[in-house]
Amino acid sequence: MRLDVVTIFPEYLEPLNVSLVGKARARGQLDVRVHDLRSWTHDKHNTVDDTPYGGGPGMVMKPEPWGEALDAVIESGEGRPVIVVPTPSGRPFTQELAVELSEKPWLVFTPARYEGIDRRVIEDYAERCDVREVSIGDYVLAGGEAPVLVMVEAIARLLPGVLGNAESHRDDSFAPGAMADLLEGPVYTKPPEWRGRGIPDVLLSGHHGKIARWRRDEAFRRTTRNRPDLIERADPAAFDKKDREMLSILGWAPGDDGRFWRVAQDVEE
Ligand code: ADE
Repeated sequence: MRLDVVTIFPEYLEPLNVSLVGKARARGQLDVRVHDLRSWTHDKHNTVDDTPYGGGPGMVMKPEPWGEALDAVIESGEGRPVIVVPTPSGRPFTQELAVELSEKPWLVFTPARYEGIDRRVIEDYAERCDVREVSIGDYVLAGGEAPVLVMVEAIARLLPGVLGNAESHRDDSFAPGAMADLLEGPVYTKPPEWRGRGIPDVLLSGHHGKIARWRRDEAFRRTTRNRPDLIERADPAAFDKKDREMLSILGWAPGDDGRFWRVAQDVEE
């Protein structure tokens, strides 16, 4: 997969040289190219922003440097990339979108500073490319560089051969499949006792069926505590008899439409 990032802070993307993404680059699984937007400016101050039409606070990124930069990046490759524009007003970045983007051959990220990029840039490229405006959460950062790091890490770990063990993302929270819509429960490793705390006996039992059931029950417990909205939204067809018993213990009951809602708030989680 090829990834391009156009930014006024190339050094902000240094973490892409480290850890999982860094190793994927070194192995040739990821071709990452970071470009300085200012190299497509022509004035002596390398201006990339200006005051907003209509007034108001802050500055807006000028269209000309972005247009020249994106033209040059697009012309340097085969076919058309998906352009990912980080912005707090975009669609939410989810595991589902990470999976979709991980299947594309080429992504171009356009992290902006200030109040964002002149709208005409997004409109112009949307005529030729798949352009996605994406938010990593309901908070406002000073720029899109940190969101690019977040998205690239979520995408890169899904590429074939990037994680050591292909099974590693099967049980991820939010991964499609049997554990869809549930958060992952707690995990343990050696030593068997630490500061007087042991390991749940079932994990030492060697009984795979019981271990799988315990993990699922713990997932229900954690999801109830941290993300009850996921259970409210879940398709109840995904819940078997044992799931329903656990949900009942945690204070959930099926409503008229079969979906679960919390009837008791004060049960032990
Ligand atoms: N830029 C600033 N805040 C952002 C957010 N929450 N998501 C994506 N890009 C951003």
